[in-house]
Amino acid sequence: MFGAFMALLSMTSCNNGNSNENVTSTSSFDEVLTSRRSVRNYDASKKITEAEVRDLIKAAQEAPSWANQQPTKYYVAISEEKLAAVQDMVGGNKERIKNAPVLIVSTFERGKSGFFQGNQTNEVGDGWGAYDNGLSNCYLILKARAMGFDTLIMGMREADKLRELFTIPENETIMAVIALGYRAEEPNRPERKNLDEIVKFF
Ligand SMILES: Cc1cc2nc3c(=O)[nH]c(=O)nc-3n(C[C@H](O)[C@H](O)[C@H](O)COP(=O)(O)O)c2cc1C
Repeated sequence: MFGAFMALLSMTSCNNGNSNENVTSTSSFDEVLTSRRSVRNYDASKKITEAEVRDLIKAAQEAPSWANQQPTKYYVAISEEKLAAVQDMVGGNKERIKNAPVLIVSTFERGKSGFFQGNQTNEVGDGWGAYDNGLSNCYLILKARAMGFDTLIMGMREADKLRELFTIPENETIMAVIALGYRAEEPNRPERKNLDEIVKFF
């Protein structure tokens, strides 16, 4: 009975034959949350397929967005040539992500979220597009962890160069570049504030 259970568990895991994964599709949501960390050292021997990246983007599509505007777009560097180019466009992050097998540029289309019939609906304006982009990226990085991958969101990046490299339209704001791969070492957990510093109940 136990053997059958273990066999089922291994069939449902997303381990892709790699050994350092500690999260499976049977992991609890809390385990995904707590084991996700910003990873700044990737295992060069482990690759990620286009199909796996598609699964991540599909998960990101499940995120909520303003009036379902879905303003987020992704540009994925997975070829050697494009990876090398993007590595040179993330400033001081270059060393941290040099072995990541995938680099994902995320953008959002302006004038969609937060707008109705072309007019801004409140003071936040295109901030809602950035908000939606963050939600999509959050789904993406958590799905990545659930699949046994690791990520680094990078706000330090050269938007103009990325725009040219991927021919990103001018009506899209370039937000983060997300490195995707497998951790080569266990990352530390940066301390969080005390709960009472960030919440007030009334
Ligand atoms: C919008 C955003 C931009 C970030 N930019 C960078 C970056 O350019 N380089 C970097 O090493 N980490 C970057 N980080 C990662 C943060 O430093 C990290 O999330 C934070 O220290 C908490 O650590 P944790 O992700 O391991 O919980 C960024 C995170 C976010 C959400």
